[in-house]
Amino acid sequence: MKHPSIAVRIVIGTVAAAALVPMTGWAAPKPKYTIKEVMKAIHKGDEALGKKIGKGEGTPADFKKLVEYYTSLPLNEPPQGDATEWKKKATALLASAKALEAGKPGALDLYREAVNCKACHSDFKPKDEHK
Ligand code: HEC
Repeated sequence: MKHPSIAVRIVIGTVAAAALVPMTGWAAPKPKYTIKEVMKAIHKGDEALGKKIGKGEGTPADFKKLVEYYTSLPLNEPPQGDATEWKKKATALLASAKALEAGKPGALDLYREAVNCKACHSDFKPKDEHK
């Protein structure tokens, strides 16, 4: 047998294509961080980055980190609540972070509105979890 059979070639081709998917980004983008990771990195505690930024004390490096983490939010599924509503809220939060990074006027007000902990937790955060 000089050449591999058609079946063998198909198998090889399929394996090669599957291996390419993560590299070429054909699949739906995967979130880099979970929602919990974003909360811990940006929102949790008195020294939280989100708090500093909300006070108007954010630096360009802070905004960059904010955008990096918030980019994962709309790519995650919420543990509860309506997935479409979640996407809207998470996308608004990300958009306000991008506006901050771009230095757009009014960006801080957008951010303060979008980062409302209670408004989001009441719909999307399971009740039995700690604040
Ligand atoms: C866009 C929606 C949204 C906003 C705004 C938001 N959160 Fe959350 N947060 C969530 C969701 C959803 C969870 C639950 C994640 C899970 O259980 O997987 C969560 C969980 C948390 C947790 C628990 C993390 C853990 O490890 O279990 C903390 C702490 C937290 N949020 C703090 C805050 C604070 C403080 C704010 C406001 C400054 C805030 N969040 C704003 C959606 C949001």
